[in-house]
Amino acid sequence: MSTSESTLEVRDLRVWYGSEQGSVRAVDGVSFDLRPGEILGLVGESGCGKSTLGRGLLGLLPPGAARDGELRFRGEDLLSLPRKRQNALRGGDLGMIFQEPLTRLNPLMRISEHFTEALRTHQPGIRKAEIERRSLEMLRTMGIPPTRFRAYPHEFSGGMRQRLLIALTLVLEPAFVVADEPTTALDVLVEAQIIRILHDLRQAVDTSMLLITHNLGIIAEACDRVAVMYAGRIVEIGDAREVFRDPQHSYTRELLRSTISLSTTGLEFIDGAPPSLIDPPPGCRFHPRCPDAMAICADRLPPQRQHPAAAEHLFSCWAAEQRDGTVHLDPSEAAPLEREELAVADEA
Ligand SMILES: Nc1ncnc2c1ncn2[C@@H]1O[C@H](COP(=O)(O)OP(=O)(O)OP(=O)(O)O)[C@@H](O)[C@H]1O
Ligand code: SF4
Ligand SMILES: [Mg+2]
Repeated sequence: MSTSESTLEVRDLRVWYGSEQGSVRAVDGVSFDLRPGEILGLVGESGCGKSTLGRGLLGLLPPGAARDGELRFRGEDLLSLPRKRQNALRGGDLGMIFQEPLTRLNPLMRISEHFTEALRTHQPGIRKAEIERRSLEMLRTMGIPPTRFRAYPHEFSGGMRQRLLIALTLVLEPAFVVADEPTTALDVLVEAQIIRILHDLRQAVDTSMLLITHNLGIIAEACDRVAVMYAGRIVEIGDAREVFRDPQHSYTRELLRSTISLSTTGLEFIDGAPPSLIDPPPGCRFHPRCPDAMAICADRLPPQRQHPAAAEHLFSCWAAEQRDGTVHLDPSEAAPLEREELAVADEA
């Protein structure tokens, strides 16, 4: 897809952490675009690099981490911008919604003061009346009564505090927001309420969002597209309903199979665990756990392909290509991968 009208263009992004055992390549060649107002869901098991990708996009990485590749925000190359300009962007146009609202709200400051601080930092000359107008409008959108404007954070429930935090991010009308498991700590009803609000906001504000979650039900309800991440890479991406209806990559199929229904969050039922990102397996990184693995999978990285019936549905999986007839593997390549061989290969 192109590009000039994209909010975000990510090409071959890599993020790694230094460690005594070697670099942890937590994001290893990720590419995608995000359009204005679009919500992209990001799923994958624990340790696959979702938070690292989210933070890497915003430049919010801890010391010792590094990134390279191409990252354009409204056409501007974020990776070569001077730090001062990056910080200025983070103040308003780029935002992050975290998981623990309490630690992000100052208990000694009224909600009105939080809004004033956020808006003044972003727009120093803003008038008091304008601050109040925008804050109250945002509170209303998030389903918080305007009468609570002068209350303190501890006077709110957990779900309301999370909505406050979202309101404080969105009142700056950012063009791009990363929400990293924003509802995981909340009960199911509150979670559903927040997701409905995020979904409705998409129509009202033109903010694009990367929404990280373990909950496939949230993706189905709130997201336009979904990206499935495994061991530092996006293995499948496309329209959320289309990917759930006709998943191509065997990891996506396993994720969906392991989730009893879209309203449960259990992803822990796939045998084994994601690999170390210091020295990941060759070929397709899922091959040691994949029920469909063939000999070629342990050897060659599957190229990215389009779904034959949906141009924006992309995936990288030899078995999917074999199924739809895009590739004709010879019998030695298509032979089922023998797990004993794998064990020996691993020892060597
Ligand atoms: N500060 C860090 N230093 C070194 N390694 C790190 C650091 N943060 C994360 N990692 C490693 O990077 C990899 C990806 O971690 P990340 O937190 O991005 O995964 P995740 O998909 O968000 O997982 P979860 O679902 O548990 O939040 C993991 O192997 C993790 O151990
Ligand atoms: S490429 Fe091979 S190992 Fe990887 S998911 Fe597809 S079938 Fe499984
Ligand atoms: Mg995470």
